[in-house]
Amino acid sequence: MELVNALSETYIEAFSSVEGALLQSVNEYTIQHHPHAHMLSGKVQGQFLSMISQLMQPKRILEVGTFTGYSALCLAQGLHKDGKLYTLELRKEDAATAQQFFDRSEYKDQLILKLGNAKDIIPTLNETWDIVFIDADKTGYIDYYELILPAVRPNGLIIADNILFHGQVLEPEITGKNAKAIHAFNEHVRNDERVQQVLLTVRDGLSLIRKV
Ligand SMILES: C[S@@+](CC[C@H](N)C(=O)[O-])C[C@H]1O[C@@H](n2cnc3c(N)ncnc32)[C@H](O)[C@@H]1O
Repeated sequence: MELVNALSETYIEAFSSVEGALLQSVNEYTIQHHPHAHMLSGKVQGQFLSMISQLMQPKRILEVGTFTGYSALCLAQGLHKDGKLYTLELRKEDAATAQQFFDRSEYKDQLILKLGNAKDIIPTLNETWDIVFIDADKTGYIDYYELILPAVRPNGLIIADNILFHGQVLEPEITGKNAKAIHAFNEHVRNDERVQQVLLTVRDGLSLIRKV
């Protein structure tokens, strides 16, 4: 299902700030070499993440789902000078690709890539999060959210990706496993009085969730 029509997408991209050279390399490399290149955040969503981060100047960012490193490099652009970004990736090959790009980044000393299952790693991170980006397996979203929210500072922000799941959550009967999981996540957040949330039609849908 087309969530935002192609003409609008083209116009929005043409009038949003452009990605820098390293981000362009990650984007092009991923499109050329990765069978699941569509998972990359892309130019407009990347600029959105960068903008939020630059406005908040976070000291601690957590990303769940590194892939080839694009969104981590976008979020890193706003890091406070003493800030750190942790990013978690299950797949060894994707982590290795991301690390190669991180090594070329001006933020390389602030980027900490951890290989493994995010559910095992998150409880080992003794940090207070300013920004969290959840963008891994959709059936894990509620678990990630519950693991992470207690460690988010008041007014800290969780951003969850794919909350419209290719439009499948809009169907009268939601059938797919991932779409069901995303819909359950959206309901879970809506019923949670600890947060304020707004869902945006950026790319595949982004939820901005502020801890009150
Ligand atoms: C949609 S991609 C992330 C895209 C990336 N954030 C970006 O915008 O460029 C999802 C990633 O989450 C990873 N992933 C899936 N399950 C995971 C888990 N349990 N722990 C850590 N990473 C996981 C996948 O291997 C994949 O690389």
